[in-house]
Amino acid sequence: MGILLTGGTVVTAADTYYADVRLEGEQITAIGHHIAQPGDEVVDVAGCYLFPGGIDPHTHFDLPIGTMRTADSFTSGSKAALIGGTTTIIDYATQFKGESLGKGLSNWQSLAQGNCYTDFGFHMAITDWNEAIARQMKVLVEEQGISSFKLYMAYKNVLQVDDGALLAAFQQAAKCGAILCLHCENGDVIDTLVRQAVSQGQTAPRYHAASRPALVEEEATKRAILLARMAGAPLYVVHLTCAGALAAVEEAKRQGQPVYAETCPQYLLLDESYYNQNGFEGAKYVISPPLRSKDNQPVLWQGLTNHMLDTVATDHCSFNFTGQKELGLHDFSKIPNGMAGVETRLSLLYTYGVTGGRINLNQFVALTATNAAKVFGLYPRKGTIAVGSDADITVWDPCYEGIISAQTQAQRVDYSPFEGFVQKGRAKYVYLRGHLAACEGQLIASQADGQYLQRSPFRTGIL
Ligand code: URP
Ligand code: ZN
Ligand code: ZN
Repeated sequence: MGILLTGGTVVTAADTYYADVRLEGEQITAIGHHIAQPGDEVVDVAGCYLFPGGIDPHTHFDLPIGTMRTADSFTSGSKAALIGGTTTIIDYATQFKGESLGKGLSNWQSLAQGNCYTDFGFHMAITDWNEAIARQMKVLVEEQGISSFKLYMAYKNVLQVDDGALLAAFQQAAKCGAILCLHCENGDVIDTLVRQAVSQGQTAPRYHAASRPALVEEEATKRAILLARMAGAPLYVVHLTCAGALAAVEEAKRQGQPVYAETCPQYLLLDESYYNQNGFEGAKYVISPPLRSKDNQPVLWQGLTNHMLDTVATDHCSFNFTGQKELGLHDFSKIPNGMAGVETRLSLLYTYGVTGGRINLNQFVALTATNAAKVFGLYPRKGTIAVGSDADITVWDPCYEGIISAQTQAQRVDYSPFEGFVQKGRAKYVYLRGHLAACEGQLIASQADGQYLQRSPFRTGIL
């Protein structure tokens, strides 16, 4: 006995068409008309779109920062993801100084396993580079299905690695079928600018943005692209925010270099004026890279339209305003960096992208699911609606209208960066591997049975 979703419009990265979709067990078993089998549960989805379940390739759930942890755990973060129409997350497991990659990975596996409501994979963040770590990268690709690694060009003395390590990591990635995800900001320059600001008494949240100008991102993005080219390795630029960095990515793509880039709803919809709010409110928007001047936004939207940006992720890294952001009340450099977004990614991109006339439905699917599945070795199991793919389907009601608010969110954090934003459309039903997991803003899944996803090695030419 299966489930027949009938009367809806199937949307993939390539097609839009009317068809019924039949789910049986954990997979999609038929697409078309007159495909019902005796005993099927028939679900009327007339008027709705059927999108592949969203894939958010950039989350930080349960991330320890000093003595704190992010407000959202795997449990609360993944519930919020499902409610918003995202069925797979790829979180950043982190190797801290002195740890092996295997140890870092097992730390994150024990946080997620049995606690995650979505399916999940990990990128492995490397913060301590040496020859042994290079060998461990290969083991992780071959034995653990970890085909992407993150390195930070920022967060000096904490997460940042130097250019020598970056080059060596790119060389190793090219050898072992991995892609590097890079946080592109020049950490040394930021360190100097932060010290200068604080020593001059410039301690309010707006100086976070002032000490991380767009040029430090542009410089680091260009350097990352050149290092990747020297090593003949693929590169995925995380959370790209500004025109200068995008121009560098465009130039690399035009030259045929395997460079991919992600942006996030906050960079498309919020701008640096949010740092000038009364009192300490600006701390809610202390993220890295910071929000930019408004003139970057049309350039980023254009990047989504013309395929120069490949994914829209969230960089969900939530901290409560009370008790966590407040640690930087007298010094912006002590404000934990990050904000929430996993729950609102699809609705924001649908509202301001699709109904705003900036991207079409197929681009919406490519940006929210298909491209991430392809770059990160999950396609075609995830990221599309096809016979044999996992039955991860987000049934989207385009007629819903609402207002985003912390009062109604599932994310376990005490504010919403998008408070008051209009939301058009929402996930009506969310199926994860054939089971109804969320319905109209409510979690249905009774247990956190998200599966760990072993991912395939990176292959060039996939996008
Ligand atoms: O401010 C942010 N983005 N925090 C999360 C860590 C990162 O840089 O991705
Ligand atoms: Zn980052
Ligand atoms: Zn991040």
